[in-house]
Amino acid sequence: MPGDAKIIDGTAVGKAMRAELAAEIAALKGRGVTPGLAVVLIGENPASQVYVRMKGKACQEAGLYHETLKLPKETTEGNLLGLIERLNADHKIHGILVQLPLPPQINAQRVLHRIDPAKDVDGFHPENVGKVSIGDASGFRPATPYGVQQLLIRSGVETTGRHAVVLGRSNIVGRPMAALLLQDGPGGNATVTVCHSRTRDIGGITRQADILIVAIGKPEFVTGEMIKPGGVVIDVGVNRVEDPSLKQGYRLVGDVRFAEAKRVAGAITPVPGGVGPMTITMLLYNTVQAARQWSAP
Ligand code: GUN
Repeated sequence: MPGDAKIIDGTAVGKAMRAELAAEIAALKGRGVTPGLAVVLIGENPASQVYVRMKGKACQEAGLYHETLKLPKETTEGNLLGLIERLNADHKIHGILVQLPLPPQINAQRVLHRIDPAKDVDGFHPENVGKVSIGDASGFRPATPYGVQQLLIRSGVETTGRHAVVLGRSNIVGRPMAALLLQDGPGGNATVTVCHSRTRDIGGITRQADILIVAIGKPEFVTGEMIKPGGVVIDVGVNRVEDPSLKQGYRLVGDVRFAEAKRVAGAITPVPGGVGPMTITMLLYNTVQAARQWSAP
């Protein structure tokens, strides 16, 4: 029936997954290993500040050791590389995350390459990108696409043999998302199409998607008529749009026009409350994976 797409609740799935993870955290602690995460924030980007605060809070609630290191926006690349070296050598820290974007004087690639791949819980180091690409489970999967994959699996969305269309080719979401959907295993085995800014007739392609994953960074880009009736829509976008009627002056919208899409899709994630909570959950999973691999290589 139109208008009643199932809502995929990332908050609930994330909470259930964190409860499962608690057992492994307790087991590691029983062996004297407390998984530890260092989060590095440079400057005062308002969205980044929110994300970093949420990551710290999630670590605290899960009983992980965590440090949030805040550096001024004028920080030099040399200083940041020095900090990373220090964290690479710190035995309390199993995972290192440098919040992106970085200020213009810092080359993000050089920074991401300096993180010890064994502590790269973001999965952005080329060694982990390569491992994820060839399906080596010891590699760290970037938290956002990993969270989307878990959301599909745990919502009972079959991916095998289905046509998954990924909108966006970023290193953080689109590319690793395509790699995960392509893997041989649960949440994989899909036929994957990646669309981007140079793709012709995007709507013609998205309408063929059994599963449409949107990570294009444009508020409400995907309209109802771009969606295959009954298809699954996963909205990775988080955009602030001005709304003077609200105290904070803005509201959050995804990359999908939710009200329209809900009338066409079979299932859809909301913004907020869809992919976001899963991303932080998977960061905790990756930090625990890092501690496990460190303690029993
Ligand atoms: N900025 C937006 N998404 C991410 C992410 O997944 N990791 C980091 N480090 N920065 C981000």
